[in-house]
Amino acid sequence: MIYLFIFVFLILLIPTLFPIVPLLKIVLWVIAGIWVLPFTYLLHLYSFFSANNKEIQYKIWDLVIEKLPWNGQGKALDIGTGAGGLAIQLAKRFPESNVWGIDYWGKTWNYSKQQCEKNAKIEGVAERLIFQKASASNLPFNDSEFDAIVSNFVYHEVRDTKDRRKLINESLRVLKKGGNFSLQDTFNNKKKYGKLEDLINQIKEWGIQQVTFAEILDEISVPKLIKPELKNMGVLYGNK
Ligand SMILES: C[S@@+](CC[C@H](N)C(=O)[O-])C[C@H]1O[C@@H](n2cnc3c(N)ncnc32)[C@H](O)[C@@H]1O
Repeated sequence: MIYLFIFVFLILLIPTLFPIVPLLKIVLWVIAGIWVLPFTYLLHLYSFFSANNKEIQYKIWDLVIEKLPWNGQGKALDIGTGAGGLAIQLAKRFPESNVWGIDYWGKTWNYSKQQCEKNAKIEGVAERLIFQKASASNLPFNDSEFDAIVSNFVYHEVRDTKDRRKLINESLRVLKKGGNFSLQDTFNNKKKYGKLEDLINQIKEWGIQQVTFAEILDEISVPKLIKPELKNMGVLYGNK
């Protein structure tokens, strides 16, 4: 979108460099000026959510971990681990745990398994972390293999299944009875997940003992301008 904005901006400005009717020149400048406003907002969003803005990333990972009602004993899985950030934070927070991170590492994101392994080494937790290529829609694990599962901002991105609820079901499949989960995504987006209330009821019907939803904007503070971007996001957490 940023490239598209720059392209349109140039298309509007380039003719003004040539000898054209002055009124047309003014009209093009005005349109280009108006065009810059959403572009500036987009750039602001881009920089706010970029990997360089560690503050927001850590705040959200901390929230996911804070909501995980786990004692840190056993195996945890981070679904859609990206560059391994949440998995690494989890391993650091729970020094007796072993953590798996899976991702399909497609072209959309500039992340890779090697990057995850390098990051885990830098953070001193590499010996307790395993990264594996897999899709969230078909996890390569047996039922009830993990004591805890986490995921941050992944399900809405998954392309190989249309039914978002199936993804949650697939994640919970690999969780042990009594195990804990904390999953963050755009769960309040009706188009993707249906009504939140129905989603929670369905999760309970799958045999999940306890599930709660926490809206992200109630949990962390972000600049006013950013709030609309986070309005559907939240954490589903509880135990199986
Ligand atoms: C917004 S990033 C979040 C990364 C990470 N969870 C974090 O908090 O930094 C979304 C991630 O979802 C991953 N992803 C998308 N579709 C996936 C799928 N079908 N299975 C596993 N991961 C997937 C992408 O590769 C990307 O790493």
